[in-house]
Amino acid sequence: MPPKFAPSILTADFTRLGEQIREAEAAGVDWIHLDIMDGNFVPNITFGPLLVQAVRQVTKLTLDVHLMIAQPERYLADFAQAGANWLTVHVETCPHLHSTVQQIKELGCKAGVTLNPATPLSTLEEILPEVDLILVMSVNPGFGGQKYIPGSTAKIARLRAMLDAIGSPAELEVDGGINATTITEVVKAGASVLVIGSAIFNTKAAIAENVRQLRERAG
Ligand code: DX5
Ligand code: ZN
Repeated sequence: MPPKFAPSILTADFTRLGEQIREAEAAGVDWIHLDIMDGNFVPNITFGPLLVQAVRQVTKLTLDVHLMIAQPERYLADFAQAGANWLTVHVETCPHLHSTVQQIKELGCKAGVTLNPATPLSTLEEILPEVDLILVMSVNPGFGGQKYIPGSTAKIARLRAMLDAIGSPAELEVDGGINATTITEVVKAGASVLVIGSAIFNTKAAIAENVRQLRERAG
C-alpha cells in the first residue's frame, strides 16, 4: 500500500484556504492535517474548532486533527463536533492517557497519540493496543518548515517493529520536515501516513506538481 498523504494547512495561503484545500483534494491527497497550537504546550498559536468546521465545509476528505494543546481533554468534544475524524493527543499533555483515548473513541473519532522527538517509544507500550494511530514527531512541534531530525528514521523503524510484533493495524504517521529529500527514508522505515506542510503548500510550485513529485519519491 502506498503511504497516505496528509497535507498540513499550516503553510497554506490562509487568504484563500478553501481554494488551496480543493486544489490539494484534486491533486489526490488522502487526508487534511490540521495543527492546533495553544501558545502554551507549544510556543505558537494557530486556530481552533471554528476553522476545523470551516474546512469541513469545503472537503469530504478525512480531517486529521493534531492537538498541540495543554489539557486536550477539555476540547475533544468541540473538535469532534466541528467535524474532526481523527484526534491525536500528545503523551506529554495527558497524565490520564488511557482515559483520554477512550474519550476520543466515545466521541466517534479515531484515536491517535503522538510523542515529541525526545520522548521515548517506551511511553507507548501500554497504550499501543488501544490506539488507531501513532504519530512520530520528526521536528519539535510548533512551526512548519523545520528541518527533519535525522534520528527520527530509526525511531520510526523501531515503532514499526513494535506494531508488527503485536499485529497492530494502527496507522504510523510521521510529521515534520518531510520533503523530496527525506520522504524516501521515512517511507522505507515503515510510515503509513505522511504529514507534509511546506513541501506541498508553498509559492515555488503548484500544489498538484508538488504532490506528483513527492508521490514519485515516496515510491
Ligand atoms: C509542526 C506541525 C507540522 C508541520 C509540518 O508542529 O505539527 O504538521 O506543519 O510542516 P512541514 O512539513 O513544513 O515540516
Ligand atoms: Zn502536525
